[in-house]
Amino acid sequence: MNHKAKPKGSLVAALDIGSHKIACFIGRTVDESGGVEILGVGYQASKGIKGGTVVDLSAAEATIRQTVNTAENMALDAMKGYPLRDVVINIPGVHAKSHLLSADIQIHGHEITDNDVRRALSKAQDQVLSPDYELIHTIPVDFKIDGHEGIRDPRGMVGKSLEVGIHMVTADLGPLENFAEGIERSHLDVDSLCVSSYAAGLSVLAEDEMDLGCTVIDMGAGVTSIAVFQGGHMIYSDHVPIGGWHVTNDIAKIMTCSTADAERIKTLYGSAIVSGNDDNELIDIPQIGAVDKHNANNVPRSQLIAVIQPRLEEILDMVRARLEENGFFGIGRRVVLTGGASQMQNIMELTEHVLDKRVSQGRPIRLYSLPDAVSGPAFATTAGLLVYLTQRQDEMPAEIMASVTPGTLWERVKYWWKENW
Ligand SMILES: Nc1ncnc2c1ncn2[C@@H]1O[C@H](COP(=O)(O)OP(=O)(O)OP(=O)(O)O)[C@@H](O)[C@H]1O
Ligand SMILES: [Mg+2]
Repeated sequence: MNHKAKPKGSLVAALDIGSHKIACFIGRTVDESGGVEILGVGYQASKGIKGGTVVDLSAAEATIRQTVNTAENMALDAMKGYPLRDVVINIPGVHAKSHLLSADIQIHGHEITDNDVRRALSKAQDQVLSPDYELIHTIPVDFKIDGHEGIRDPRGMVGKSLEVGIHMVTADLGPLENFAEGIERSHLDVDSLCVSSYAAGLSVLAEDEMDLGCTVIDMGAGVTSIAVFQGGHMIYSDHVPIGGWHVTNDIAKIMTCSTADAERIKTLYGSAIVSGNDDNELIDIPQIGAVDKHNANNVPRSQLIAVIQPRLEEILDMVRARLEENGFFGIGRRVVLTGGASQMQNIMELTEHVLDKRVSQGRPIRLYSLPDAVSGPAFATTAGLLVYLTQRQDEMPAEIMASVTPGTLWERVKYWWKENW
């Protein structure tokens, strides 16, 4: 498909609302093919968000505001004093659902155009419209002309009928409205939305991986999001409602320490697999409520890992089950693990063992001038939101709708948003 690019020099901004951190990237497009240079970044520990859901609107709003301010200050010169307005935001996997359908249209023997494809997509969109959820992505994944399969791009070809296989992603309206409210209160407009795992995949996968078949697992704090890619498209998305936060919580409960200490101990000494020396290495675990520092509890590192490993195995077993149940486990031999919780020592080995695939860690590769502090796997989704915004506009339902409905483009987009928000 032909991706409509933003003009060179456009300012673009992303807001990634996670359960652990909220992050904002401001960038500028540097070419017509969607390359983005980063001008400003901000991130803060998340407040008011749990498991991908807003639980305290004013706390979330305050954190969003501070995060955006930091990014704006860094990008001050390029923004010429104008405050940030439009942002692309993430939809956590817990609120999203994949729908796989197809749509047929009659071509009557003429050459297939962009508009025919959009007509088919728009027809499919009508099938999923519902008052309970919002359509987020409409991705054409395969084409058939007069029943012949395996057509990658039908444009320019002739035939009587065109069938398009489509992957659509919807998001539950309630949680989405709370997200939108938090953002609007911060004086920002939601320009577009992208499922977290899709964004993660767009920023960490090489073209070949997207093409040949690859599963991306974005292990965050409250949610582990999954996206399966093949033929250059996301063909399925799913999630498991458990992440790094649950590991920390297990440590705090079982080792009777505060969650802050559990978090620190996890990142410093944690591992997904026990190794030979772990019985001999002792870790100080400050006991909850203990005033005396000497009252720390010395436990072998192996005991800490014995708390961590089963939880991570549970997450990965659930990921495998979701993929198997839905028929996507067999797609590709590769898994790319990303997200903050993918930084756990030895997690690649554990994932290889549970999923029986080749596993590597993914970090954002598609943006220019990304500061080191935000170039790790925890920022894969944030970075990918900008890639989505600049390179995948033709998968946005509003754009598709706009191109087949009369009126000026701006009127149609406005109409669509008004109807749907
Ligand atoms: N070095 C590390 N080892 C293990 N876990 C880590 C490490 N660094 C961060 N984490 C974990 O990563 C998680 C945060 O990841 P991330 O920033 O991707 O989450 P998020 O995007 O805010 O959350 P979500 O996507 O689930 O809403 C936390 O649970 C944190 O404990
Ligand atoms: Mg996340």
